[in-house]
Amino acid sequence: MDEKKALELSREVAKRVLKAVNSLPLERRGEFFAFGKSSVTKLVDKVAEDAALEVLRKEKLRILSEECGYVGEGDVFVALDPLDGTFNAVRGIPIYSVSLCFSDSEKFGDAFFSYVFNLCSRDEYYAGEMAFKNEKEIKVGGKENLEEINAVVYYPDRPLPFKRIRALGSAALETCFVAEGIFDCFIDLRGMLRIFDVAGGICILERAGGVAVDERGNSLKNKRFEISERINVVASNKILCKKLLELIV
Ligand code: IPD
Ligand code: CA
Repeated sequence: MDEKKALELSREVAKRVLKAVNSLPLERRGEFFAFGKSSVTKLVDKVAEDAALEVLRKEKLRILSEECGYVGEGDVFVALDPLDGTFNAVRGIPIYSVSLCFSDSEKFGDAFFSYVFNLCSRDEYYAGEMAFKNEKEIKVGGKENLEEINAVVYYPDRPLPFKRIRALGSAALETCFVAEGIFDCFIDLRGMLRIFDVAGGICILERAGGVAVDERGNSLKNKRFEISERINVVASNKILCKKLLELIV
């Protein structure tokens, strides 16, 4: 599969997920559906996943999806989060997304295309060789001074010197916000994230010139598309990333 085909498929997934989620009234979104492979599946998660898989399962793909685990067979692997930001979607907070990461193996390091679609603003982010938002190339910001940065942080147990700290509830989108320079870093050290929450956004961030590592500074490239592992992420431009790691250890 090439980038063009992956983009085409991703766009179709985004279109179907958007329609499915918007067809479900807000008051029904949070209904319990089942215990999923990785967490509780709400009705809105289920309709989003069904819509995404209806498109992806027509292709020869090995898909790791949040609610159902691995499905399908093929040489190309896809880490799918059909709905990233379920809490926001259920409460009507307009920050949630669908995220896909296509890889030549089950290793995140072999990713060749990623796609994140903001289901509220309808902004589209994707990356093959380079990273784009709504067809325009994006780059991470260049700030290096800790006191000047706008940070997404999920690490509440010590004072941090940043200018602003936010936590918006969709890791896929938050990493894209760093990729386009709206925020300067994304830090999540709770040990809660799964690969499908962040694979799409991190790949876009890296292609936009940023880096993403774990709390010890190790690359995430060796992470596998698997459902049970929980990961920590520090992502920003290269120089800032070094300073952030010194600050948090
Ligand atoms: C969640 C979002 C959120 C992060 C949580 C994830 P989900 O994913 O990525 O930003 O803070 O840890 O579980 O469950 O809405 O797909
Ligand atoms: Ca999800």
